[in-house]
Amino acid sequence: MTTEPETEQGPALPLPDRERVLEHAEELILSAWRSFDRFRPHQPLPDDRHLELLSAPVPTAPSDPIAALDAAADVLDVSIAQTRPRFFAYIGSSGLEIGVLADALMASHDVNVAVSSGAADLLEAQTVRWVGQFVGFDDEAGGLVASGGTISNLTALTAARERAIPGFRHEGAGGRRMALYCSAEAHYSVRRAAEVLGIGGNQVRGIELDSERRMAITACAQAIDRDRRAGMVPVAVVATAGTTLTGAVDDLEGLADACAERDVWLHVDGAYGLPAAATRTAAHLFKGLSRADSATVDAHKWLYVPKACSVLLVHDLAALEHAFSHHEGYLPHGEQLHAVDRTLEYSRPLNGLKLWLAFTVHGADAIRTAVERNLHEAQLLASLLAGDERFELFAEPQLSAVCFRRRTPTGLSPDAVNEALARAVAADGRILLAPAEVDGRIWLRACFVNHRTTDGDVYAIPEVVGELSETMAGTAEVRR
Ligand SMILES: Cc1ncc(COP(=O)(O)O)c(C=O)c1O
Repeated sequence: MTTEPETEQGPALPLPDRERVLEHAEELILSAWRSFDRFRPHQPLPDDRHLELLSAPVPTAPSDPIAALDAAADVLDVSIAQTRPRFFAYIGSSGLEIGVLADALMASHDVNVAVSSGAADLLEAQTVRWVGQFVGFDDEAGGLVASGGTISNLTALTAARERAIPGFRHEGAGGRRMALYCSAEAHYSVRRAAEVLGIGGNQVRGIELDSERRMAITACAQAIDRDRRAGMVPVAVVATAGTTLTGAVDDLEGLADACAERDVWLHVDGAYGLPAAATRTAAHLFKGLSRADSATVDAHKWLYVPKACSVLLVHDLAALEHAFSHHEGYLPHGEQLHAVDRTLEYSRPLNGLKLWLAFTVHGADAIRTAVERNLHEAQLLASLLAGDERFELFAEPQLSAVCFRRRTPTGLSPDAVNEALARAVAADGRILLAPAEVDGRIWLRACFVNHRTTDGDVYAIPEVVGELSETMAGTAEVRR
């Protein structure tokens, strides 16, 4: 006969003095938020203290949680945080405050959005619908929240492959060769998807660009027709709605026509740019979006929430189910499929919660206005650079990415100067910019996707780059 233990055991790993620890964590978070409100004049680097801490072996004995939290906050403080308003390099996230709290709440409950998680399933589905409404894809969009644009693109293209070759997932390609079509400047997640899906990275047709750096539609259509005549199976066209390099938005309407005529899946990679479809300024660039079969939107980019939160939108959930559903002894289901039957990942945190809370707390209109403000910041920078003879502007920005470079006197290599300048900007630490190679030439690239950035931060870009280039002038580095 089993007997109840005499004393209640409680958890095996209790957090000592958890109320005090929670209060301390709250102070740390608040102090981080305060430090992100304004730019900081320098980016500190890890020192010997950090290196010693971060090379220590696994701790075997307990230690004070408050001191441990302080150590963690200290490590974060000397890490590059994309939340800072002058982080213009890459397409970062903003660590939206309500999203941070959502993450803490989500992790506390640690729901797994895989097999019937109750209300969490409904919340994820609602969040996906809201995104579909926000960007104008479909008021009743289905889909899922994934850990990044790379995974959303892979998920969509898995469904496209199954549509193009029904039964592929069970039988393989059966000797058939496949191809994907995208802009020559598409994000490399498309090529990686082709590698993983057995399409082959070399079967990604990087289609030439038109004068606005969009995929040339006729060239895309011709490539599909040519491949078909050669016996290949076109799996999908991937339109980019906001290229990573310059922010170019492919002509979605034109591509939707080309795909409809040829019965080819159209996926829109709007990981970066699609939130701009919700704005008055840029909506016209995304005409035709609703005709795509699927679309990726990274909320951890231009919807400001912390990583990770990418949304894959589809009109037809069944297409995902055909590609992913399983019936396993340990996961039996009847008619009602599980969330995991529409995607590759099994353990799935409720990453949609931060976006759900962001829409709920701020409202879609304020988020739209924040995106408008970033578009304005890109225009502002472009006009500052265009009016400053020290700089060359690559092109008027379509969205919020701006490429420019320092003009150089004859005799100096513009690429070497701008590469050195990118290094100098990184070492200086007042602003962060990325070097970018466009058409084989080196540029500096600023991308505005942070809700904390102000016009004052934009003015700092030509100021700091100009100042550093004066300091650099004549040094050996730029004469290489
Ligand atoms: C257009 C585009 N697609 C996909 C991705 C990949 O997104 P993630 O980093 O969330 O995997 C990026 C990342 O910058 C991107 O710009």
